[in-house]
Order: sequence, then C-alpha cells, then structure tokens
Amino acid sequence: MVLRAFIIGALAGVLSSPALAPQAAAQPAPATAVANGQKLYVAQGCYECHGMVGQGSSFSGPRLASPVMPAAGFVKQLRQPRYEMPPYSDKVLSDAQVGDIIAYLQSIPRPAAADSITLLK
Ligand code: HEC
Repeated sequence: MVLRAFIIGALAGVLSSPALAPQAAAQPAPATAVANGQKLYVAQGCYECHGMVGQGSSFSGPRLASPVMPAAGFVKQLRQPRYEMPPYSDKVLSDAQVGDIIAYLQSIPRPAAADSITLLK
C-alpha cells in the first residue's frame, strides 16, 4: 500500500521529495496493483504496440520495461502523446489505474546482461 500511495502521490504531483523515490522503488508493488495493472495493460491494448511484457518493437512502440520511465513522464505521454500513440484521457484510464500499469511494468524482471549469456560470449 505504501508503494501504491507513493505512485498515486507522484502522479498527482503532490510528492515533492525525490529522496523518497529510490526507497519506494526498492519495495515490491502490492500483488493486487500488479495484477490489476496487467489486466488493464491487456484490456487497453498497450500490448498491441509495446508487447506483452513491455519489450517494445521497432515497428510499433518503444520498450516500456524494465526499467520504467518516471511516473510523471509516463502519464504525460498517455494524456498527450508525442507522435503516433493514441491518447488515453483520465476518463479511459484514471491516474490510479495508470499507477497500477506502472506497477505491472515495474514487476517485470530485467533481462540478463548480455555478457552473462554463454552463447553471446
Ligand atoms: C497504436 C500503438 C500504441 C498503443 C495502443 C499504445 N502505445 Fe504507447 N507508444 C506508441 C508509440 C508509437 C510511442 C512513441 C511515442 C509516440 O508515438 O507518441 C509510444 C510511447 C509510449 C510511452 C513513452 C515511452 C518512452 O520511452 O518515451 C509510454 C510510457 C507508453 N507509450 C505507454 C503506453 C501505455 C501504458 C499504453 C496502453 C494504455 C500504450 N502506450 C498504448 C504506440 C502505442
């Protein structure tokens, strides 16, 4: 709940202490937020352009995970996309729901480093 509150707070722009960010990011998101975020990510069609695990594609949409970009920029892109992405107003996805999508994307493990993969050595 602490992380969820942090994300919502950050989205609303009320969180002014950047010192809290690394601490909150180190904690795992509540499972309910992650599960709800995954459901929304699929239901809203994010996966169609960004891939099921946010891996992105050079043809349709950039990589979203992981790491995940800061929440403020993430929300701005949804509300006022820079180029070709369709907009998602807060009637379609509330700030809290976007927070859950971010929690889902943050829960996706980072890929292994290339130099740790035997075939690539
Ligand atoms: C029709 C394809 C499409 C869909 C659907 C889509 N996106 Fe995007 N997204 C893009 C493209 C293309 C960009 C690159 C910037 C632009 O075109 O505005 C982008 C950029 C982004 C970025 C910025 C990434 C960065 O590193 O700058 C975020 C965050 C993002 N999308 C999140 C989402 C989420 C969350 C959803 C679902 C609610 C979603 N997108 C649905 C195509 C899509």
